[in-house]
Amino acid sequence: MNPDPLAEFRRLVSHRARHFPKQWEASKKLIEGATLHSTLARLHRTLLGKDLPASVKEPLLRIFERETASRVQDLDGECLKSLTGLPPAKALRALSVFFELVPTPGSQWPTTKLTSEDIERLVRNMENPFDLIRCGDVASLLDIGAGDLSFAEEVVGLYGPDLRQQNRELIVHCLDRLDPRSQLGGPLHARPDRLRRLQQTPGLSFAFFGNQDMFELERLDEQDSLAPRYTIASCWAPATPTFAYEPTRLSRSLIDQELIRTRGAFRQTRFEREQALEVAHGERLLLFPPWKFEIVGPLALLSLLARRGAVCVVGSVDDQVFWELLAQLLDESRYRPQEEPFTTVTVPKIFGDFYDALVGLSIGESIDLSSLATLRRQYPPSRDGFAVAFRYIRIRRGATFPDSPASSTARKFSSMNEEVPPWMLTLVPA
Ligand SMILES: C[S@@+](CC[C@H](N)C(=O)[O-])C[C@H]1O[C@@H](n2cnc3c(N)ncnc32)[C@H](O)[C@@H]1O
Repeated sequence: MNPDPLAEFRRLVSHRARHFPKQWEASKKLIEGATLHSTLARLHRTLLGKDLPASVKEPLLRIFERETASRVQDLDGECLKSLTGLPPAKALRALSVFFELVPTPGSQWPTTKLTSEDIERLVRNMENPFDLIRCGDVASLLDIGAGDLSFAEEVVGLYGPDLRQQNRELIVHCLDRLDPRSQLGGPLHARPDRLRRLQQTPGLSFAFFGNQDMFELERLDEQDSLAPRYTIASCWAPATPTFAYEPTRLSRSLIDQELIRTRGAFRQTRFEREQALEVAHGERLLLFPPWKFEIVGPLALLSLLARRGAVCVVGSVDDQVFWELLAQLLDESRYRPQEEPFTTVTVPKIFGDFYDALVGLSIGESIDLSSLATLRRQYPPSRDGFAVAFRYIRIRRGATFPDSPASSTARKFSSMNEEVPPWMLTLVPA
């Protein structure tokens, strides 16, 4: 939380309260009469387990220790104001929303009751993390950046029949930023025949949201179109260059230089009636959706996945995205050098102590990341104000695995001779 942790915390608390109007409304109940006491106790308990800067955590703990307060007015209003910028009642409500004490009111979607410890135990014993769809208590999956929906179709084909026999519902929700009306994006578009098949599959609750930025989910949440949390949140072949450069590590000018060096000069243009990004790649002019070179970085992707999934699976991660992603998962900041692009020359030096162990994995082999280095404990909060942490991370080498569903990009890797084998990460949020 930089540069002023208190100001940053105030900003995040009020951002969250403004962007989750249903929770904000529901938070009123938490400060009423007899409930206040238990709300303060829950806030206190929640806070004890949070990694927050001392200048935020200590005064908050002091406030919530006063569990005997029977009225909001009995709390230290000035301190609450300095921490949240709000008067006491609103401050307490905003903090309850921020620390997720308020359940999503009235969501139609079931969510898993398994704890993160249960999930970790189950996933550790599974070669294929998607088997959690079969053996968890709720069979639900969110696939972001879903492309042509072939992964969704494989999941439904693999798990749907058993679940249907057991009279259990399978929930599969997919989204992609590509506008289905766009002429750009080629084979990544959701195929209409596949979409229709999925929509008509009995026992399946399927939804696809096209023209949908994964980082702009407020409207879908407002309409209760998405579950607050899925048993699995997946992202296959995370988009490049979107997730290949981390903006908290690399400046925009350096990223632009790298894009021009590796992809070619680019500019916004028009293609027929739509906006497009034109990239001069060697002799060729390539056209992409206009947002193709928007750089978001892996931190935001991790945060989104951790918010939405009891388990997160990032499959078919190409080499460039992989090292940038890995750098964010490790505790020591030396893996995230400022203004130093990850290249075939810098990566072996930066990850030297365990680089060989990772690149030495044969296809199909996997490794518990905590056996190589300490997992990151404190992540900066993402733009929606949530901070992630993972209790378990497994890295597996390869694009596709026997008896596991995979995306069409993953299935194409075997014919991409110039690409090194990609990576799969299975992450259990803390
Ligand atoms: C490399 S493709 C992978 C597609 C599919 N997951 C697969 O593995 O075959 C990346 C996908 O992410 C989508 N995408 C990129 N940025 C996105 C965003 N901000 N929100 C939603 N989808 C996005 C792209 O439209 C594209 O379909």
